[in-house]
Amino acid sequence: VCRCGIATSAMKQINKVTVIGGGQMGAGIAQVAAAAGDQVTLVDVNDSVLQNSEKTILKSLERVVKKKYAESPEAGSAYIEDIMDRISTNTDVMAASKDVDLVIEAIVENLGVKQELFKKLDGIASSNTIFASNTSSLPIREIAKATNRLDRFGGVHFFNPVPLMKLVEIVKAPETSQATFDTLTKWGKKLGKTTVSCQDTPGFLVNRLLVPYLMEAVRLYERGHGSKEDIDVAMKLGASYPMGPFELADYVGLDTCKFIIDGWSELEPDNPLFKPSPLLNELVAEGKLGRKSGEGFYTYK
Ligand code: CAA
Ligand code: NAD
Repeated sequence: VCRCGIATSAMKQINKVTVIGGGQMGAGIAQVAAAAGDQVTLVDVNDSVLQNSEKTILKSLERVVKKKYAESPEAGSAYIEDIMDRISTNTDVMAASKDVDLVIEAIVENLGVKQELFKKLDGIASSNTIFASNTSSLPIREIAKATNRLDRFGGVHFFNPVPLMKLVEIVKAPETSQATFDTLTKWGKKLGKTTVSCQDTPGFLVNRLLVPYLMEAVRLYERGHGSKEDIDVAMKLGASYPMGPFELADYVGLDTCKFIIDGWSELEPDNPLFKPSPLLNELVAEGKLGRKSGEGFYTYK
C-alpha cells in the first residue's frame, strides 16, 4: 500500500507519456508531466502548432521560475532546460504512441474524432499502454468503445490553466479496471495534483456544476438583465470567483463551451440547464472563440 492508501500490487508506474493535441490543455499536460519527471511526446497536426505549444510551455515555465527561483536565475534556467529536454514533439501520432505507458488525448471535443484517433492507435500501441481522455463532457465509455482495451481506458480530466489548477478528475468508466483507475490516480498525484474519483456521468463533477452556471450567465445577459461586465464583477466580488463567467467562458474557449452544451442538449433535450444559447452559437460561427482567437465575449487583441 502506497502513502496515498491505494493497493499497489496491480498498479503500473507511468514514466513515458504521449500527449495528443498541443492546444491549451495538451501543452499544459505535457508541461506538468515533464516537470514531474516523465518523458513526454507532444503530438499535433503540424509543426507550426507544435512550435506554438513549445512557446506556451516556455512562457508558463518562465512564470513559474520567476517565483520559484527568484533568488537564483541560473538554477531557474537549469530547471526550465531540464523540463524542456524531457519534451519532444511529433506530428506522426502512430510513431509517437507505439511504446509508451500512457497515451492521453486533448484534441477537439468531438466524439467521432476522438473515437477515430483511439481506434487507429489501438492497433499499434503496446497492449500495456493505458489510454486516457481529457474530455470535458463526453462519456469516456463511448470514446473507449472504439478500442479493444476498455479495461485499460479511463478519464483524466485536467483544468485550465493546467500548471496552476490543483485538481484532476479521474474517471472510472464501467469497464475501466481498478488497476487502470489506481494507476491513473497515482499518476495524477505524481503530477502534484489532488485527485477526485468520478463516475462516467455527463460533466463528471466540476463541469456538471460549472457549465450550467456559465450558460445561465449567458442567458441572463441574453435576456438583458445585466451587462457582461456587471455580471462578471458581481460574481468576482459577490461570490469570490477568480474570474467572472464571461471571462471564464472566453478562457475555456467558446467552441469548447458550445461542443459541451450541444452534446448535452442532444442527450437531454428537455433539460433547461442544457439549453444551447443563440449568442454563443453566433460568436462561434463568427470564429470568436475567446482568448485563443483574440476575441470572444471580450476582445484580447
Ligand atoms: N502558467 C504558470 N503560471 C501562471 C499561468 C500559467 N499558465 N497563468 C498565471 N500564472 C501565474 C502568474 O504568473 C501569476 O503569478 P504571480 O502571482 O507570481 O504574479 C499568478 O499565476 C496569477 O496570475 P495573473 O496575475 O495573471 O492572473 P490571476 O490572478 O487572474 O490568475 C488564474 C489567473 C489562475 C487563471 C485565475 O484567474 C483563475 O483561477 N481563474 C479561474 C480558472 C478556472 O476556473 N479554471 C477552470 C476552467 S474549467 C476547466 O478547465 C474544465 C473544462 O473542462 C472546461
Ligand atoms: P484547443 O483548441 O486549445 O486545442 C486542441 C488541439 O488539438 C489543437 O492544437 C488541434 O490542432 C489539435 N487537434 C485536433 N484534432 C487533432 C488530431 N486528430 N490529432 C492531433 N491533434 C489534433 O483545445 P483545448 O482547450 O486544449 O481542449 C482540448 C480538449 O480538452 C477538449 O476535449 C476539451 O473539452 C478538453 N478540456 C478543455 C478545457 C479548457 O478549459 N479549454 C479544460 C479541460 C478539458
